[in-house]
Amino acid sequence: MELPFAESYRIKMIEPIRRSTRAEREQWIKEAKYNLFNLKSEYVFVDLLTDSGTGAMSDRQWSEMMLGDESYAGASSFQKFKNAITEITGFEYVLPAHQGRAAENVLFSVLVKEGDIVPGNSHFDTTKGHIEFRKAKAVDCTIDEAFDTTLIHPFKGNVDLEKLEKVLKQSGNKVPFIILTITCNSSGGQPVSLENMKAVREMANKYGIKVVMDSARFAENAYFIKLREEGCQDKSIREIVREMFSNADAITMSAKKDAIVNIGGFIAMREKELFCSSSVFEIMYEGYLTYGGLAGRDLNAIAQGLYEGTEFEYLETRIRQVEYLGNKLLEYGIPIQQPIGGHAIFVDAKRFLPHIRKEECVAQTLAVQLYIEAGIRGVEIGTILADRDPVTRENRFPELELMRLAIPRRVYTNNHMDLVAAGLKNLWDRRNTVKTGFRITKEAPIMRHFTIELEKV
Ligand code: F0G
Repeated sequence: MELPFAESYRIKMIEPIRRSTRAEREQWIKEAKYNLFNLKSEYVFVDLLTDSGTGAMSDRQWSEMMLGDESYAGASSFQKFKNAITEITGFEYVLPAHQGRAAENVLFSVLVKEGDIVPGNSHFDTTKGHIEFRKAKAVDCTIDEAFDTTLIHPFKGNVDLEKLEKVLKQSGNKVPFIILTITCNSSGGQPVSLENMKAVREMANKYGIKVVMDSARFAENAYFIKLREEGCQDKSIREIVREMFSNADAITMSAKKDAIVNIGGFIAMREKELFCSSSVFEIMYEGYLTYGGLAGRDLNAIAQGLYEGTEFEYLETRIRQVEYLGNKLLEYGIPIQQPIGGHAIFVDAKRFLPHIRKEECVAQTLAVQLYIEAGIRGVEIGTILADRDPVTRENRFPELELMRLAIPRRVYTNNHMDLVAAGLKNLWDRRNTVKTGFRITKEAPIMRHFTIELEKV
C-alpha cells in the first residue's frame, strides 16, 4: 500500500476553540453590522479571515524568542535577522518594519510622488492604498487569464507584457517602478513565473526603471515554480528564491506570511543610495535602523522563520493542505479560482450566487452566509475591498467577486478542512434560499472594508 502524505511536523501545544449555535451566530453577525472584522474571535470556530500573522511558530522560533537582544542599537538580533535575509534573498541592505504596509510606507515615501504611475500585477490593497494616498495611480497589468476562474493556467499571477509596455510607452517618465506581487494575493494566491519576472526585468531595464517585489508569499511562489516551471524541478527552493530576487531592485516583505511570525516585516534592497534615503523615513515612521518597530525577539523569530519557510517539506505540507480543501470543494461542484492557489481558496461568489445584484455586495453576502452556516470566517475580496474610485468617488465593481478562505500556517488539521468543505457544501445546496445581499450604511474614505457597516437589503 502506498503511504499517504502526512504533515512534516507534529503538535506540541494546543489552543481550545469554541463551537456555537446558528442562532448565536445570527445574533453576533447582526451586532457586528455584517462586517466579519467586527466579530470577536471567540465567536469563530475556524478562522480563515487571513493567513497573515495567524501561523503557529515552531519550537525553534519560540526558543529564538528567548534569545532576543533588546538593545536599542546594534543588537545581535538585528545581525541574525539581516544575515538570514541576505542569505535567503541576496540583498545587501535591510530595514526592519513592523509589518508589510509599514515597509511599503517607508519605501514609497522615497519612490512615489504625486502624479506617478505604478504598474503591477493586481496590487494588494495596502500597496494600492499607499500609492493612491500619495496621489499616484496603480495600473493593473495582470494577464487576462487570471480573471477567468475556470481557466487553468500555471502562472495566473503573471504580468501581461503588452499591457505593461503600453503603460511604459505612454508614461514611462512617470513610472518610478514596476511592482510584482509574489504570489499574487488579489488574483487568488497565484504565482508569477521566473520567465515572467525576467521579462519584466528586461522591460524595466529598457525604460530605465526599478522593479520592486511585494514578497509576502515569496516562498510559496518559489514552490510553484519548482513544481510547474520547466527546468526548475531539480533546483532547491532557496536557489529559486535567489533567482527570483535577482530580478528585483528592492523587496517589501510582510513577515506575517512566509516568515511564519505573528508580527514583522522588512525592506531589502540592492543599492546603498536607496537604503540611505529610505533610512530617513525608517527612523521617522518605524524606529531606529536596527529594530524598526520590532522587538529583538521578533527579529530572531523572523530569521528562524525565514529558514523554515523556505524548506521544501514545510511548503509541501502547507500548500497540499490548501489543495486538499480546494479539491473537496471542486468535488462538490463549488466554483473556485483554479488552479488552487498557495495560501487560500477563492470561491467565485458571482457563480455561487448569480441571482444577487452586484450592488448588493455578492462576495460579502457569501462570507456572511458561510459564517452563519458553520462558524467559519472568510473574507470578502470584491466590491467592498475594491473601494471607490479616488477621483470620481463611484463604487468600483471588480471583475471578480471572491470570498477568500485563507489557511493559517501550521494551525488547523485536515479535519478542520473537512468541516469547512461540509459547511460550504450545505450552503451550496441551499444557495437559492439566499435571496438578497447588503447595502452599505457607513464607510471610511479609504480601505473601507475593515470598518464598513452594512444592513440587509
Ligand atoms: N502585500 C501582500 C501581497 C499582502 O497580502 C499583504 C497583507 C501586505 C502586502 C501587507 O502586509 O498586513 O503585514 O501590513 N495581506 C493580509 C491578507 C492582510 O490578509 O492578505 P501587512
